[in-house]
Amino acid sequence: MYYSGDTDCAAGSTCVYNNDWSTTTTSTTSSTKTSTSTTTKTSTTSTKTSTTSTPSGSGSCSFGNPYENGYTAYLSPYYIAEVNAAIATQSSSTLKTKSAKVAQIPNFTWFDTADKVPTLGDYLADARSMQADGTKMILQIVVYDLPDRDCHAKASNGEYHIAQNGVANYKAYIDAIKSYVVQYPDVRIVAVVEPDSLANLVTNMSDSHCANAHDAYLQCTTYALQQLNQCNIWLYLDAGHAGWLGWQSNQDPAAQLFAQVYKSATPNRVRGLATNVANYNALHASTPDPITQGDPCVDELSYVQAMSPRLTNYGFPAHFIIDQGRSGVQNIRGQWGDWCNIKGAGFGMRPTNVTPDPVIDAIVWVKPGGECDGTSDSSSPRYDSTCSLSDAKQPAPEAGTWFEAYFEDLVNFANPAL
Ligand code: BGC
Repeated sequence: MYYSGDTDCAAGSTCVYNNDWSTTTTSTTSSTKTSTSTTTKTSTTSTKTSTTSTPSGSGSCSFGNPYENGYTAYLSPYYIAEVNAAIATQSSSTLKTKSAKVAQIPNFTWFDTADKVPTLGDYLADARSMQADGTKMILQIVVYDLPDRDCHAKASNGEYHIAQNGVANYKAYIDAIKSYVVQYPDVRIVAVVEPDSLANLVTNMSDSHCANAHDAYLQCTTYALQQLNQCNIWLYLDAGHAGWLGWQSNQDPAAQLFAQVYKSATPNRVRGLATNVANYNALHASTPDPITQGDPCVDELSYVQAMSPRLTNYGFPAHFIIDQGRSGVQNIRGQWGDWCNIKGAGFGMRPTNVTPDPVIDAIVWVKPGGECDGTSDSSSPRYDSTCSLSDAKQPAPEAGTWFEAYFEDLVNFANPAL
């Protein structure tokens, strides 16, 4: 595909065109060399041909937009418990009412430590029981436990370390997730895979932490894709956001890396990319935020539209889900790279599969609003100075823990209002 150069058939052979996208064996004879057989793309095709198998989950192995056909997103009991605990401490009845509404808006459950994984089995069992009356459920999760996690920041440093058996630990974590996924082939799962990790490999290799993590990240991600190759799961690799990989010079290297990872684990259940996870960008900014100046992608819509042809070119499926959970208020950041508990943020557009471009499968809420991005306590080992910038709300607790003052702002500044 896209090859227009000379062909190179050996004397006596016949040139044929081999469909690069095909996953079935072509009928060329062993002495026939195809016109594109010397390109990388064709060798990828042949890898696909030789390893293609049906994912092992049972049921129909459809692979369209998982959010189509009347699926209801499962509400995370973990998040509901967090919000209910918050409501118990609130005094304003208006705030309590609005907070209770937030608990009814689906977001993703993050498996940010291995000890949380057994709850996946509980949620899947719960979702299955809800399907008894014919309702079709979709469970939304985040796979987030890479060794040396968050290599370019500190706030979300994880439990595993490459130097301390981290890759093996991660594989066990993935195996545990898989063990639940295969037990519930009748429950649909959408998983965002490892926020920030591949994006860091695109832009932050000058950081020794990321350079050191490079091989392990790739090995672990490939393993996750291979193991989670089940009919009931749809995977979206995290793709940063417009202000990260949307810059002109980052777009192509990013598309190449996503395609490389995708091909490293063929066949797999990667449906596409997740963008703006835990970030604040607008889906479509009618007036671009001044901080976006110089980036051709001023919002998430322009970002996914710029990436789509590049991804397709490299053989990666150009479908997206976009986090809008905390994007209700714009023009609140000092710099586009700021990400920690941005002051003035509000809950954003509600999750929907009605989207402005067919490449977008759904608007989702990935970050559970109210869970902190990182602590502002400079004595903490996970302190990242980004969390003390003037646009970051303070004092802030550790990443992932409840930040009530921030939650209340998200509620009060929600757009559309709650
Ligand atoms: C934290 C995780 C948390 C996730 C969702 C991340 O920033 O590091 O612990 O689960 O956000 O709130």
